[in-house]
Amino acid sequence: MLEVVLYADMLISWCSIGTNVEINLFQVLSTIALAIETSAPELNGHHKRTAFIANALAAELNLEPKDREDVFISALLHDIGGLVKKDYLIAIDDQEPYRHAHAAYGASIFNLVPSLRDKASIIRHHHQRWDNGRGEFCGDERIPFASHIIYLADRIDIQYLKLRKSGHEAPIERCIELIKNEAETFFHPRVLEAFLRLAKKTYFWLAIGKLLPLHLLSIYSPIAGKTINLDELMDYGLLLNNIIDMHCNFTCRHSLHVGIVARFLAEKCNYSEVDCKKIELAGYLHDIGKLAMPMGLLHKEGKLDAEDIAALKSHSYHTFELLSSIDAIADITRWASMHHERPNGMGYPFSLVGDEIERECRIISVADVFVALTENRPYRTAMPPEKVNEILLREAANGSLDSELVNLLLAGRQEVMAITDDMDLAQAS
Ligand SMILES: [Fe+2]
Ligand SMILES: [Fe+2]
Ligand SMILES: [Fe+2]
Ligand SMILES: [Fe+2]
Repeated sequence: MLEVVLYADMLISWCSIGTNVEINLFQVLSTIALAIETSAPELNGHHKRTAFIANALAAELNLEPKDREDVFISALLHDIGGLVKKDYLIAIDDQEPYRHAHAAYGASIFNLVPSLRDKASIIRHHHQRWDNGRGEFCGDERIPFASHIIYLADRIDIQYLKLRKSGHEAPIERCIELIKNEAETFFHPRVLEAFLRLAKKTYFWLAIGKLLPLHLLSIYSPIAGKTINLDELMDYGLLLNNIIDMHCNFTCRHSLHVGIVARFLAEKCNYSEVDCKKIELAGYLHDIGKLAMPMGLLHKEGKLDAEDIAALKSHSYHTFELLSSIDAIADITRWASMHHERPNGMGYPFSLVGDEIERECRIISVADVFVALTENRPYRTAMPPEKVNEILLREAANGSLDSELVNLLLAGRQEVMAITDDMDLAQAS
């Protein structure tokens, strides 16, 4: 009963977004930053603090507003490329051979999003050492000044975090000393000078000495008040979809396919174009909570114990937690995070029943099960069509899946498989 009341309250407070929706860019980017850190709790807040430090350095250097925005956005997502490695902490380390690998992969992820593309080279070079001036260029390419800012910001956060964790008696003084000692080898002289001025200001150390609440970062942020529309959000959805599928690499196109199948069902149900886009986006994002699962657990071989299963099942709640910080997409959040709810009440995490589950959530559920059955998994190959039909019809009959949607999908099966195959071919070429 309690859950039903809570859910009714949520439905009242959650509104649907329309065509002219304005989505807060800071909330979208900080959610991505949070998502890419969830698999490495030891670093909790690294992206927020690096963005804060880089922004403070950019202000100290009197950069133009557009350059400050580029520094801030790039810093907030700078280690996104580390998610492809099993050990995120090793992947983002400043040591050889890792430091440039995650930067290169991060740049390729930035290239996927039109509004981030101009910042890809900042990410590509964010571990470029100054090396007594040789670090001004990489081959013929001039390293963006923003990369040098982010590199120093990153090192300040990592050093200061280590010193605080080790209980050092004078972490600020020692941090300044360590940075100065590495100056000529590692850091651009102008950026270093800006840091030494900044280091005299008490607020700077107070801000980065703890978790740094998002509302404070938002106040300092040069993108406060900026918004994006649904199409631009779709670009970020594809970026997230890419990193989710890379993180769970045995199902490398799972989220992409769920989004496509969900859109197919939405079109068959005659939703408007805006709603079809939103349902597609919910499909891309439904497993974002899996980023909170260590890769070791996602790829564990052999039998899973009860603790493993409980941890894995928590991913849809993590999806809910992560996406809930973006105010304007409450409906997409709901549809994405409730994909394991079941009309017969046997789902999770909210244990909703019957009509409490909106049709959009049911669409994602049917798409998710269909895609899971038709893809290869480490413990089995993709199921043949007759077996997929049998399982979907059985799940519909026992109330686990919406029977109307299952019938629509089975009737259009050839059509939907052709769409996903075309998409795979386009991605491979
Ligand atoms: Fe990095
Ligand atoms: Fe970093
Ligand atoms: Fe899931
Ligand atoms: Fe899924």
